[in-house]
Amino acid sequence: MEQASKNGIPVITIDGPAGSGKGTISQRVAETLGWNMLDSGALYRLVALAAQRKGVNFNQIDAEEKSLANIAEQLNVVFKPCANGGVEIIMDNDDVSQAIRSEDCGCAASQVAAQKPVRAALLERQRQFREAPGLVADGRDMGTVVFPDAKLKVFLTASPQIRGERRRNQLKESGIDANLAGLIKDIEERDARDMNRKDAPLVPADDAIIIDTGKLSIEEVVKQVLDAVKKVY
Ligand code: DC
Repeated sequence: MEQASKNGIPVITIDGPAGSGKGTISQRVAETLGWNMLDSGALYRLVALAAQRKGVNFNQIDAEEKSLANIAEQLNVVFKPCANGGVEIIMDNDDVSQAIRSEDCGCAASQVAAQKPVRAALLERQRQFREAPGLVADGRDMGTVVFPDAKLKVFLTASPQIRGERRRNQLKESGIDANLAGLIKDIEERDARDMNRKDAPLVPADDAIIIDTGKLSIEEVVKQVLDAVKKVY
């Protein structure tokens, strides 16, 4: 489909820092509306994992921007919907759905995401997710850079303490005991890198609705977003 006609397809952007609840909220909103979903963080995680597997030197990452951009351009990935409502992520015929969710991969993703040529290489791929009947796009720059024409932009926040606790609980469910102070430190480092990078930093769009998810249940946040959807679409 051409870009001009794609622009008529509705988009809701849901941006925010790690652990703000973007993933869960975006998935629930997309399911309720029957719309498609873009997990843009997964694309950056995939570039990071592919780069690690190819032996890219993360200690001198600025010198690796060309090879990282090549990896991003050539990313061979399939998002396969599963019967349980989840998505299997297959890269180079390998199921990497679990591998890209590690803390280490999240941190590496934040490093590759600070490289401008990587962001440029992923831009069009992200816009291709805009398909009828609509798209819920989850990330850091969905409302500011990738879909600036979206009629509904949401920015989720929560304190690093609360986001760290959420992450610890998630890990506990997978049988992993993590240290809360360490998780909070990782979150703060990742926030600082994502907010302070030159290209597409993590900031709310001027026209975004800001929701602090710290004291709200998932259902309450989903309701606020769906109420806002009714007003614009
Ligand atoms: O949402 P996430 O934790 O899966 O994202 C992993 C990293 O990818 C995040 O720390 C920054 C980067 N990212 C980005 O720069 N822009 C996006 N739209 C999504 C993620």
